[in-house]
Amino acid sequence: MEVIICKDYDEASAKAYEVMKEVISAKDDATLGLATGSTPIGLYKNMIKDHKENGVSYAKCHSFNLDEYVGIDRNHEQSYYTFMHENLFNHIDIKEENINLPYGDDQAACDAYEKAMDGYKIDIQVLGIGANGHIGFNEPGTSFDSLTHIVDLQEKTISDNARFFNNDMNLVPKKAITMGIATIMKAKKVLLIATGANKADAVYGLVKGEVTESLPASILQRHPDVVVVVDEAAASKIK
Ligand code: F6R
Repeated sequence: MEVIICKDYDEASAKAYEVMKEVISAKDDATLGLATGSTPIGLYKNMIKDHKENGVSYAKCHSFNLDEYVGIDRNHEQSYYTFMHENLFNHIDIKEENINLPYGDDQAACDAYEKAMDGYKIDIQVLGIGANGHIGFNEPGTSFDSLTHIVDLQEKTISDNARFFNNDMNLVPKKAITMGIATIMKAKKVLLIATGANKADAVYGLVKGEVTESLPASILQRHPDVVVVVDEAAASKIK
């Protein structure tokens, strides 16, 4: 596991893009594993800038996102499908038919997503990390053997996300579909970005803690090619 400590969010986003660019420069038809949330927005901005200014192309790339809510339409303003289009896909030349997000609420949807990914093999998987060490929607206690599955969102996640749904917890989806831990571990390379002091404990567990299902991201210590890009605040407990 390579850990790169940057000054702040902007420097971490630029560094993360360097890691991404190395992969897409070596393989113009790379398969990208992508994440939502606030953390990767800076990386996506760098991808968009280099595409617009220097023509870096995603025309031959495929993408697979980590997760999606269950129970809201793809075109809902808070769906991860919408998030990805607004923050990345609408601004680069990736083809709509090459974009994949999990969708559905049953085992068949999960199996179909695994099968689709197996056909491509993810060259680089972008990850954020939750303050409790979650990756994707894999909360503490998720089996390291898990593949794409449906999760019941925790009460805390529902209340945290209410701010995006008119502060009404009833409007927040109660379930999500997510790649599992074993799915994420199949990626050839993992790029995890963490910024902000509230991620410091999770980053400690990820880099130096015991490998345990209580801190899902700790499994990445067993992955052969992981780059962790953190800012000073998120790195405060590993220095
Ligand atoms: C996003 C995802 C989540 C986030 C994590 C961090 O697709 O699966 O695991 O990466 O919750 O979220 P932010 O970046 O908003 O702090």
